[in-house]
Amino acid sequence: MCSNMSSVATMKRKVLPPHLEVNGGHSLNGILKVSGAKNSSLVLMAAALLTKETVLINNVPQLTDIEVMSEILRNLGAKITKNSNSLEINSNCIHNAELPYQLVHSLRASFFCIGPLLARLGAAKIPLPGGCNIGARPIDEHINGLKALGAEVEIHNDLVKAQISAKNKRLRGANINLKYPSVGATETILMASCLALGKTTISNAAREPEIQDLAKMLNSMGAKVSGAGTSRITITGVEALKGTFHSVIPDRIEAGTFLIAAAITRSSLLVGPLIPSHLSAVISKLQECGCLISHHGNHYLKIIPTEISGVDITTSPFPGFPTDLQAPFMSLMTTAKGSSKIKEKVFEKRMQHVIELKKMGACIYLEKNTAYIKGVKKLIGSTVEGGDLRSSAAIVLACLSAKGESIITGLEHLDRGYERLEEKLTNVGSCISRKYDQLTSHHSFSSKAINKDNINTQKNAA
Ligand code: UD1
Repeated sequence: MCSNMSSVATMKRKVLPPHLEVNGGHSLNGILKVSGAKNSSLVLMAAALLTKETVLINNVPQLTDIEVMSEILRNLGAKITKNSNSLEINSNCIHNAELPYQLVHSLRASFFCIGPLLARLGAAKIPLPGGCNIGARPIDEHINGLKALGAEVEIHNDLVKAQISAKNKRLRGANINLKYPSVGATETILMASCLALGKTTISNAAREPEIQDLAKMLNSMGAKVSGAGTSRITITGVEALKGTFHSVIPDRIEAGTFLIAAAITRSSLLVGPLIPSHLSAVISKLQECGCLISHHGNHYLKIIPTEISGVDITTSPFPGFPTDLQAPFMSLMTTAKGSSKIKEKVFEKRMQHVIELKKMGACIYLEKNTAYIKGVKKLIGSTVEGGDLRSSAAIVLACLSAKGESIITGLEHLDRGYERLEEKLTNVGSCISRKYDQLTSHHSFSSKAINKDNINTQKNAA
């Protein structure tokens, strides 16, 4: 049973923005349901711009990022019908090749529209997505790829202007070698080259499951993509793409977060649906630190934590340990037996959770992008703030395991990437609830998502 939150928390509630109250230390039990992948959904929505016909995408999570992306597509002239977890997108009448700064700033993934806009309309104007709170995140690989395909691209006053020259009516296939296997750049080039003249190869391509999901949908639209999921992708351009129906893959990052939730609360849980091969690196680290993991059918994993010991991780592109689960895994390591070392190698500034975990009694020494952790017996509930999407998830996990009560602010980050998180966690026995300021108590998914202030304050990490 959850105890009443302290009077201090009640007093704080009057002045706090929307926040989560967590009464930690409860053991969890049951099934944690995994939603469709946010990162796949965002790029698939952009890919729907590549055809005049209707694209129906199923298993789309209800998240603020998805609402913002819908708003961006509408702004370009697309018609979108939303029905629970499915989106019907018709881009027959897209007329606008320019994205407004405010929307691009609030969602970095909106930059994905550049490839489809170029391929469909021959031009695109998109403000630079800029840096964000996990690092600089340049777009040079996207731009170089588009230039290699024959686009003229210039960046002036923070506006990226891309066009196909008057003499070339279409982009032209090219051999592109990425300096780094960037997920976003691979997706941009993949989408743009589907309607290009001739053959494109992307070498050193990203191999993430979201790339495979994108290629699968593009192929069902009539594109000719092979090799997605390997580091060499080949695309033979076609003249036009058609409509399709596509179901988004399960969110491997949400699934990983739930497996870690089981481990940190020392609870046995069933997690799914998921695709186990998308989580191989995470599963093997969880096993190495003391979790028993077994398959239940093809799409569920049962996790039973035993004594958790410290293990080291280094993040890297797929199939390596995902940077998006570095922060949640660090929360787990704070209560592991012994020491561990966590090295962030994908993004330059992704350690914002460290300071919050330390407030909860974690013993962490941070040296640049490497955290040295000495496990403590128990974390202590505290008032903590999420600074980006994945560090917010890490903080929630830490609070679930901590002794006593915690208050978590910064929910605008969490709501970008975790669908109905408190509801899912409550269903398995967590004591977690969302509290609203008087003024914002009529909060709902859609009103929150399109609220101007919310869009302005969202940070566009991951
Ligand atoms: C995507 C995911 C994000 C995940 C990341 C890495 C989406 C919406 N987001 O982000 O959740 O954490 O992959 O798995 O799918 N880089 C360059 N030049 C470029 C592009 C990237 O130097 O043109 C660098 C970045 O600064 C970063 C690294 O490459 O250090 C990885 O970035 P990238 O793979 O592009 O990540 P995103 O696509 O932004």
